Amino acid sequence: MTILNETDDRTAGQPERGQLILRHGVATRLTHWTWAIALFFLLLSGLQIFNAHPSLYIGNQSGFEFDNAVLEIGAVRGDDGVPKGVTTLFGKSFTTTGVLGMSGAAENPSFRGFPAWATLPSYQDLSTGRVIHFFFAWFFVAAFLVWFVSSLINGHIRRDILPSLADVKALPRSLADHLRLRFHHDGRYNGLQKFAYAGVLLVLFPLIILTGLTMSPGMNAAWPWLLDLFGGRQTARTLHFVCMALLVGFFVIHIFMVIAAGPLNEMRSIITGRYRIDPETPEKETRQ
Ligand code: HEM
Repeated sequence: MTILNETDDRTAGQPERGQLILRHGVATRLTHWTWAIALFFLLLSGLQIFNAHPSLYIGNQSGFEFDNAVLEIGAVRGDDGVPKGVTTLFGKSFTTTGVLGMSGAAENPSFRGFPAWATLPSYQDLSTGRVIHFFFAWFFVAAFLVWFVSSLINGHIRRDILPSLADVKALPRSLADHLRLRFHHDGRYNGLQKFAYAGVLLVLFPLIILTGLTMSPGMNAAWPWLLDLFGGRQTARTLHFVCMALLVGFFVIHIFMVIAAGPLNEMRSIITGRYRIDPETPEKETRQ
């Protein structure tokens, strides 16, 4: 832990302020923003690629003659002759007009999986979507490898990311604190943060990379074991999509938590590394 200043800036009538510490190292900050930007482009271009065939399957086969679809997005004409967007998940159909299957202006609707605002490019263009997706995929892989290797070497994974037994025991209290939006600003991640970050960094990131590689014909030739590991290219595509959906869910909660915990202090820490802890935080709690 590096203390950047002492609590000598107290003035009469103002609340006591805690110390400024160095919370995030330079590798954590640089890789965080690289993957945040890369994931934005990967998400939108990925949905463009998905729209070329807006269905997901389990197994090796896909097509009309097989009965292994887990998700299908499309449009049908209702009994009244009016078209509507329909999403079928595990055999159960939902009307999703306006968002999935059919979207855009009512007088000139567009029949596509995800709507124009959720894809890059906004119009249907598979080849441009693939170029964007593969370009940012390599940035994402590079950022992840830099984070993983530097965090192994500097102890970030062991010290800050992997939950300890004490974190597991303190989980109910940590959960109750979060539900009441009560945050402790010390140098450490709390147990819930560790579980969420470990889930993203050590489970979802490797899984989304490996399932992406499994869909590549070049990789199938080089590493055929990937197809066996994930049970075929269609299952890999479905898992890739599920990882994406979980990352979107994480992102929504992540942003909400940053805002709830004090956005200026949180943003300063992930940009400059400097983080103001609560006054009178015990010395052992100030280490990150
Ligand atoms: C897809 C996008 C994003 C992902 C996957 C992501 C993921 C993560 C992860 C895994 C960490 C922990 C990093 C580590 O300790 O090594 C982290 C920290 C953090 N992220 Fe993000 N992030 C994303 C976008 C953002 C955005 C857009 C913001 C700001 C608006 C943000 C703000 C922060 C802050 C403030 C921290 C530090 C939290 C703390 O010190 O308590 N993140 N993020």
